[in-house]
Amino acid sequence: MLPNVLQPRATDHVPVLAAEVRESLAVQPGETVVDATFGAGGHAALLAADLQGRGKLIAIDRDPTARTYFERFERTARVSARLLRGDFGVVLPQLADNGVRADAILLDLGVSSMQLDRPERGFSYAADAPLDMRMDSTQEQTAAELVNTTDERDLVTIFRRYGEERYAKQIARAIVRRRKEQPFERTGELVDTIKAAIPAPARFGDGHPAKRVFQALRIAVNDELRSLEEALPAALEMLRPGGRLAVVSFHSLEDRIVKQFLRARERGCTCPPDFPVCVCGHEPELRAIQRRPVRPGAAEVAANPRAASARLRAAVKSGGEA
Ligand SMILES: C[S@@+](CC[C@H](N)C(=O)[O-])C[C@H]1O[C@@H](n2cnc3c(N)ncnc32)[C@H](O)[C@@H]1O
Repeated sequence: MLPNVLQPRATDHVPVLAAEVRESLAVQPGETVVDATFGAGGHAALLAADLQGRGKLIAIDRDPTARTYFERFERTARVSARLLRGDFGVVLPQLADNGVRADAILLDLGVSSMQLDRPERGFSYAADAPLDMRMDSTQEQTAAELVNTTDERDLVTIFRRYGEERYAKQIARAIVRRRKEQPFERTGELVDTIKAAIPAPARFGDGHPAKRVFQALRIAVNDELRSLEEALPAALEMLRPGGRLAVVSFHSLEDRIVKQFLRARERGCTCPPDFPVCVCGHEPELRAIQRRPVRPGAAEVAANPRAASARLRAAVKSGGEA
């Protein structure tokens, strides 16, 4: 019997914006698909079905527990597939440098249900557990280490930048005071410290009072934004002309990075507007598939509340037109 952390569950692989991702990636038989955030394989199963038994699927995930899901996926998917364990911010540039090419690439960012719903992973403020939050359990730094060793000013920056936390200063001060007595080990200790640090009315306002600090710590522990910034140019490089890239993000920090990347690469000429003729010679590298990010409909949010903040942006690499 597999330990609890490795037991696949039915709720692990409800893919977000599944129909919209599938439509944007428009996978054809015989193509090569990269699912850079394999998770429990929900999207991968749909994309593999579109390959109709012909083609290849390269799966990437930094979480070692994804292997269990990948093995299950491999048993049912009728395509050739392999799993690369690692950070997509490292793996995609390596694949691109090695000349690996793809027709469709998906990044479905953030944490998966298999991580959030397992309290022992320490991602959730809703259950008392070790303060961990590593997607890759072989990585050294846990959230507890970060909270116990980062100086107060840097904690304020992390909470403000990655969590947009209004009470960043008060919370960082309370953390530093508390850790002098006893280092943080558990999520519950951090939740109690946050609650005590913020004004009483704010404890009942906008969602759980620890929500923003937990998001900020998770982003910092896993260096999520850097990974995304390094993955996007590599993904574009890997795509064949006419290849499609789809990115599902779950908060504005990620979405901003994706939006700015797509806009910059979609722009052709970068000459100042008052130049009579183009002298830069830049050609657009891609074309956005939708003008605005695609959001889930009310029915999807009702069935899967975690989809509520999802935004999909997708693009086609230039050069594939007939
Ligand atoms: C939202 S889930 C993906 C769920 C998946 N699409 C499905 O349908 O089951 C995100 C997954 O990406 C992985 N992940 C997040 N950031 C990563 C990174 N920088 N490199 C590799 N994997 C990452 C997480 O470990 C998690 O399993």
